[in-house]
This record gives sequence, structure tokens and C-alpha cells, in this order.
Amino acid sequence: MSDATDFDYTLDERQIAMLDAMGIRVFQGEISDQKEPFARMESAQNAIEKVANTIPSKPVVAAPVIPQAAAAPAPTRPQATAITLTPKPEGIERMGWAELAATVKDCKACGLCQSRKNTVFGVGAPPALEGEAPQVDWLIVGEAPGENEDIQGEPFVGQAGKLLDNMLAAMKVSKEEAGKPKGLKRTENVYIANVLKCRPPANRNPSPEEVAMCEPYLVRQIELLKPKLILAMGRFAITTLTGSNEPVGKLRGRVHTAADPRITAPIIVTYHPAYLLRNLPDKAKAWADLVLAMQTMKTIKVL
Ligand code: URA
Repeated sequence: MSDATDFDYTLDERQIAMLDAMGIRVFQGEISDQKEPFARMESAQNAIEKVANTIPSKPVVAAPVIPQAAAAPAPTRPQATAITLTPKPEGIERMGWAELAATVKDCKACGLCQSRKNTVFGVGAPPALEGEAPQVDWLIVGEAPGENEDIQGEPFVGQAGKLLDNMLAAMKVSKEEAGKPKGLKRTENVYIANVLKCRPPANRNPSPEEVAMCEPYLVRQIELLKPKLILAMGRFAITTLTGSNEPVGKLRGRVHTAADPRITAPIIVTYHPAYLLRNLPDKAKAWADLVLAMQTMKTIKVL
């Protein structure tokens, strides 16, 4: 019986030419010289099996057993840097905007700090004074940074963000400017933040502990931003702000008050843009929610 270690992977010229014609590239060097030895061996093994299957006149080559890893050096994994978690910072409820932003940047209160590339504090209209909170009528609250947001340190910069920007642009909230009614724009007249400031690995759902650690940051942001209206997008933002666990479909269509008494702005709930990308027919409902938000804002402004 053939031993696993003495299997000959060498192909003759005819076999290589045939594989080449089939679009299969075969590695013919020293396997141990290569970075991904297992992948290389597998492809040679698959290639041999394919040759055998395409030449009926030849005896079928028995599938070789892949040599044990013992012969090859163990693959090295990048070492995770150990980060010591620290208690949730004190006095968040008294912090000013700049201190709050710096505290979030340094936060190690939950395990998400181990895997994040960047914290994602928020983005929005420029403040009147450097280091102070922008004063905005509109606040959008999403769930948590995804991969692109983690890399760029800004909320909603991926596909869901493009949809959000389009939804905001469609909300013509102010009088015509140079012949055009003005919509909402992340750099001008709105603020966008998330419940979580760090990305959950592989975009998994935020855990209740993570939300509990991060929520004081959002509450303080809202106190300082003083929005006139909050648009909560998706289940996590809605539950965090309203305290209700009901599905979005049951909560939309009316104005909510926040569970936390420090948040006084009314809340309109709607679907998360990432959900809308997967459920296009619900875009019409989301638009109805945005219309409700615009009507609600009008009544607030006249009051
Ligand atoms: N989804 C969110 O809820 N927030 C982001 O910033 C990106 C995607």
C-alpha cells in the first residue's frame, strides 16, 4: 500500500498540457518552498483526479492521501495584542463634546476594543465653534459600524450608507436654495451616529452588554447635539432609544418618546438601510416614515 509520504505529485508534459488547456494551473516546484502548502497540494491532487476522469482509457488514479502537516512547518497565526479592559469611564454625563469624543476614542470598556481598527464617533454638520457639538435639527441613529466604517472611522460609508445619503437627500427640508429645495446632507445639516461606536466582529449583532457599555456615549451625544428630531433606523437603535422590543413594523407610523428622560426629542422609527437593500419593497414604507418625520419637524418648528 502506498505510503502517504511517498506519493509522487509529478505530472508528465502531456498531463500538464492537458490541464493547461482546461485552465488548471499546476504547481511543479518544491511544495515546502510555498506559502500555502496545503492549498498547493490540494490543487495538484484535484488536478490529477481531473486528468484521470477525462482519460477513460487510463486506469483511474487513486486519490492520494494528503501528507500529514507534521512534515510542514505549523502555519503561524498573527498574535492578537492583549488589551486590558478598563471600567466604563466615569462622568460621561458631564463631559463636553471634545472630551466625549476623546473618551470614546480611547474606550476599552468592552471586548470590541480588541478587534476594532477605529472607533466611530459620528459625522455631521460642522460645529459653530471648534471642539463643540454641532447644533442640528436632525439626528440619525444607526446600529454599529461595519467593515468600511471601522476602516474609515465614519458611520454609514458602505452600501447602506449610500442608500442613507440618498434617503436624506430626498428629504427636502428647507426652502429653495438657488432654485433647488434643499435636502439633508451629512456634512451640512444633520448628524449621524450609531448605538455602538466599535464594530462587532464579522458584523454580528451587538450584545446587550456592549449596548449597555456604549449607550451613555449616545445619550450624552444627544444631550449635546440637541436635535429637534431623532430618526432611529433598525431594531437596535429603536430598542435602545425607545425601550421597546416590538418589531419595526409595529412601531413605525407614529411618534415615540425616548425611554431615557434626558432625551427630549421625539423619535420616528424606520427600517435600517441595510435591511432596505435586501427588502426593496419596504423602501416605500421607509419613505412614508421619512415623510412623517418631515411633517413632525414642521410642527415642532412652528411651535
Ligand atoms: N450600519 C449601521 O447601523 N451603522 C453604520 O455606521 C454602518 C452600517
